[in-house]
Amino acid sequence: MGESVIPLADLRVAAVPLAVPADPAAPSGHLVDRLDRPLRDLRISVTDRCNFRCGYCMPREVFDTRYRFLPHEALLSFEEITRVARLFLAHGVRKIRLTGGEPLLRKQLPTLVAQLAELRTVDGRPPELTLTTNGTLLTRLARPLRDAGLTRVTVSLDALDDAVFRRMNDVDFPVADVLRGVDAALEAGLAPVKLNMVVRRGMNDGEILPLARHVRDTWGPAVRLRFIEYMDVGSSNGWRLDEVLPSEQLRQRLDAAFGLEPLLPASADETAERWRYRDGRGEIGLISSVTKAFCGDCSRARLSTEGKLFTCLFATRGHDLRSLLRSGASDAQIAGAIGLVWAARGDRYSELRGEQTAAPGERRIEMHYIGG
Ligand code: GTP
Ligand code: 5AD
Ligand code: SF4
Ligand code: SF4
Repeated sequence: MGESVIPLADLRVAAVPLAVPADPAAPSGHLVDRLDRPLRDLRISVTDRCNFRCGYCMPREVFDTRYRFLPHEALLSFEEITRVARLFLAHGVRKIRLTGGEPLLRKQLPTLVAQLAELRTVDGRPPELTLTTNGTLLTRLARPLRDAGLTRVTVSLDALDDAVFRRMNDVDFPVADVLRGVDAALEAGLAPVKLNMVVRRGMNDGEILPLARHVRDTWGPAVRLRFIEYMDVGSSNGWRLDEVLPSEQLRQRLDAAFGLEPLLPASADETAERWRYRDGRGEIGLISSVTKAFCGDCSRARLSTEGKLFTCLFATRGHDLRSLLRSGASDAQIAGAIGLVWAARGDRYSELRGEQTAAPGERRIEMHYIGG
């Protein structure tokens, strides 16, 4: 009997063409959207591939050998990424975060970081330049990335116990190697390192206290652990509300064990609510997109690996910047087109969660493709 053919769902969402203004005005650096939110943060996905198969992001039943990742020619080149980033900075962006998939899998990544580090914000400062990684390649790359101009890193770490960690990444990767990656980042001067733990009730919620204790005892304030409520991103992870552990319950557990007090936000558009340990051994963050949405101050734009511009993590369509970049459009035209998209933005998915925001048959973007 021949091999059965299983049709592959195309998990990538529709692209909409960008409108180019006839007579684009120069970016003012003070662009706001329909809800009066400025554009401050650009997240650039540099690859849709990953060496992990975290169930909440790239479940292996979907992302197996039959899944077609983007071919090389579809990806934005480093020159294209840098050009787009420069135009976003002219619109007021101050922070650039590289994401994936796993961004360290993109070849020559330090070269891209060096190009981005040359850019300047509207105030003439270098942008804050950071990335979110699973940490598996950090022992090798932390130093070259730092030398190229990276300012910080965020490492995903869902458990301290090796067996639980291997189950969470679903490729049997040992936790010790990621912990060594965190050490390498600190040694390279990428402090403070942030750690992201996505909490799934019944899977890794037993790891909250052991991981918090390990971070406090080993690294103290140099490492900030953040707990993320499991979100309904994408269409393939089979998300269920009963797997979400509300941050408030988590905070009570940590408070009972170690003693916490609130910290003021460092900036209005911060995703994490910050708390410090009373004994001075550092701080933690709670990212509560399910129980306490933070759309009101959301200043984040996202650029996918193949150059679609998204104005929300839960968008169902992306604006096709790549076609514009490859059509010979001028910087002024591209900046004008970006300005129109942002000015029309009204997204606030997390605040509306529960109401129907995706039309039947529409797909939402997948996390591995747009990054965190
Ligand atoms: P820094 O604190 O400056 O490092 O940035 P950050 O807080 O944005 O951190 P990071 O990029 O690590 O984001 C942490 C996690 O928050 C992500 O992995 C997502 O799970 C979640 N997150 C980030 N941005 C958004 C957003 O715009 N909307 C929602 N709903 N969740 C987000
Ligand atoms: N819910 C919450 N966070 C997620 N991430 C990926 N998928 C999800 C999800 N479903 C986060 C991980 C990682 C970053 C890349 O995205 O924490 O740190
Ligand atoms: Fe890879 Fe990060 Fe997604 Fe896990 S959460 S599969 S490490 S991109
Ligand atoms: Fe921003 Fe969309 Fe996340 Fe709300 S749901 S915080 S609008 S990315």
